Amino acid sequence: MRMIQLKGGGQLPALGLGTWKSAPGEVATAVREALRVGYRHIDCAPIYGNEAEIGGALADAIADGDVTRDELWITSKLWCDRHAEKDVVPALQQTLKDLRLERLDLFLVHWPVALKKGKQMAERAKDFIALDRLPIAKTWKGMEAAHAAGHARHIGVSNFSAKKLRELCSVASVQPAMNQVELHPYLAQVDLLGTCRELGVAVTAYSPLGSQDRPPVLRAEGERNLLLDPLVTEIAESLGVTPAQVLIAWALQRGTAVIPKSVNPARLEENFAAAKVELGPIDMQRLGSLDAGRRYVTGEFWTTPGSPYTLANLWDE
Ligand code: A2P
Repeated sequence: MRMIQLKGGGQLPALGLGTWKSAPGEVATAVREALRVGYRHIDCAPIYGNEAEIGGALADAIADGDVTRDELWITSKLWCDRHAEKDVVPALQQTLKDLRLERLDLFLVHWPVALKKGKQMAERAKDFIALDRLPIAKTWKGMEAAHAAGHARHIGVSNFSAKKLRELCSVASVQPAMNQVELHPYLAQVDLLGTCRELGVAVTAYSPLGSQDRPPVLRAEGERNLLLDPLVTEIAESLGVTPAQVLIAWALQRGTAVIPKSVNPARLEENFAAAKVELGPIDMQRLGSLDAGRRYVTGEFWTTPGSPYTLANLWDE
């Protein structure tokens, strides 16, 4: 398994398991199956609503001797309503309790968006807090406190633009080790990857398969299905692999970590086997030509009427 080296000394298995949209009732079985197949990196977040069930699966797997804690890499994230400096450590402690862990390997600021405490999403304009009132630099102090207390071996961010990442790096005492962003051939984010490389920030690709199981409110009419893209399927056929394996191999060969989600045993195995798929330089280049700056997770849900957030100031594009 390819490993991704992080600032701060640790390294994570490049291919991990995504758990966004893995429903309670099915995620425990999926995690156990993933561990059996060989996954050692699990990506979690409290907003996914399934950390307690994942924690049960991890505890059972460790108790049954399938895996040791030291072999695992567990990432989780800080939800937007806990951005106040003093709220960060308690939020992480709740996640640790749910995941039944003493510490995380990686803890990320989930979005550069702040909400009033207790709000999972904004129902009205006053549920938002603008970043000039609660800046990321303040939230980061809480992240650094979590790191200093030993609750998280590494800290990082998610959904950060190059601009926000640079700003954070310029004020951080503990540098962010990771930026987890949406990445796939329709959204190759070449410039952002360059900035991350320059800053020494590793990158994790989320929604690498195009997240076709997103809830209907997060789907656009007529959006293209990456898994059915003619070039992706053509390359898959030519190599005797599946489209999902092409997409995962593409992410790995770009030097990013990648966290395809599945709750299906056959697909968990298929996705894990993608670590052995090799794409030649021409196929990598052809896949690169699909870049259209097209997000599946557009962030529009942060831009409801009266919100201080716009797509322009969210992505800095
Ligand atoms: P399932 O969980 O039933 O396997 P992403 O990782 O981009 O969020 O995509 C997740 C979606 O892709 C889920 O709907 C998941 O369904 C599906 N999926 C996962 N692995 C594969 C695969 N190998 N082939 C086709 N679809 C897959």
